[in-house]
Amino acid sequence: MDKIIIFDTTLRDGEQVPGCKLNTNEKIELALELESLGVDVIEAGFPISSPGDFSSVMEISKSITNATVCALSRAVEKDIDVAGQALKYAKRPRIHTGIGTSDFHIKSKFNSNREDILARAMQCIKWARKYTDDIEFYAEDAGRTDNEYLAKVVEAVIKAGATTVNIPDTTGYCLPHQYGEKIAFLKNNVSNIDKAVISCHCHNDLGLATANSISGIINGARQIECTINGLGERAGNTSLEEVVMIIKQHKNLGFYTNIDATKLYPLSRLVSDTMRMPVQPNKAIVGSNAFSHSSGIHQDGFLKNTLTYEIINPEEVGADSSRIVLTARSGRSALAYRFQKLGYEFNRNDVDILYDRFLKIADHKKEIEDEDLSEIAEAYQQKTVSYSK
Ligand code: KIV
Ligand code: ZN
Repeated sequence: MDKIIIFDTTLRDGEQVPGCKLNTNEKIELALELESLGVDVIEAGFPISSPGDFSSVMEISKSITNATVCALSRAVEKDIDVAGQALKYAKRPRIHTGIGTSDFHIKSKFNSNREDILARAMQCIKWARKYTDDIEFYAEDAGRTDNEYLAKVVEAVIKAGATTVNIPDTTGYCLPHQYGEKIAFLKNNVSNIDKAVISCHCHNDLGLATANSISGIINGARQIECTINGLGERAGNTSLEEVVMIIKQHKNLGFYTNIDATKLYPLSRLVSDTMRMPVQPNKAIVGSNAFSHSSGIHQDGFLKNTLTYEIINPEEVGADSSRIVLTARSGRSALAYRFQKLGYEFNRNDVDILYDRFLKIADHKKEIEDEDLSEIAEAYQQKTVSYSK
């Protein structure tokens, strides 16, 4: 089994989301929770961006004992210096520095050329080595970078001392097979690739961030950059809980992570509350509907054997137990089950009669709650409603 390094960027890429900004105390609290979740690397912030972020990275560095603490910088000496200073107290400091390598970035952003960018990439790694030996290089917009040129840059930065090479699909453009082929190309065409870890950093603009990251590790990457609840610029980053559970569910892929999955759901809620960013109800793994069953066919199968409609036991990810939700699409077995949970023992004939009454009410309500069920049951027992059967 190969270990996949989990690099969490909730506090950096995730915090870039409008409305998600955190103060230093909030960042420290989340960093400690991330450490106890088992993440290997915590990207704590972008120290040059503001004095507040500088002190957040510094305080997180003091608080974290086991995980590597990482600070982002551009390929600019001043940025790298500030990142290095912010990491002064980190037990395991990592500087994450880099530059755009696609022609979009080289021409539009830097008004430059490939040779110049290559030289700047090497220079920033050499500069960062003044502060730590753990240096990660990012080739921004690698997803749209020509593979031959990307391979040249990657080879050069590894030679200059980069120990991790991050291949971001910054715009979320790649299809899973294309992203996988890119990683495979680097594995096969960069002579010193065995001296560095390849990292996936995928954005979700087309909803492919998780699929692309998995394709990346299948093709040779060994680090995934991700965030809790998939937070991040625009449509977000790869979601930590998704990649961790994919790796756990599909053991035949041959990977494992250090993550304690039972902490995923509570941490998802803590991040959502602290960042004031709700989790979409149908979000995989941590959405409020991820373990809810509402249609009659599904409920009947689930009540006979949970595995018919659930591949993950909610307890495995620290979520509340599965829910049988009652709507106008629900069936008799679900209704009987919910009555039973409330302490009402009805026979088949009773349930048939009550089901008609239930449907009449359910057609006018989105969801039938316990109080509605009690009312239906009491009215039936006291014969205060007339029934067609
Ligand atoms: O998406 C991206 O390319 C980034 C880099 C700064 C790593 O976030
Ligand atoms: Zn990003």
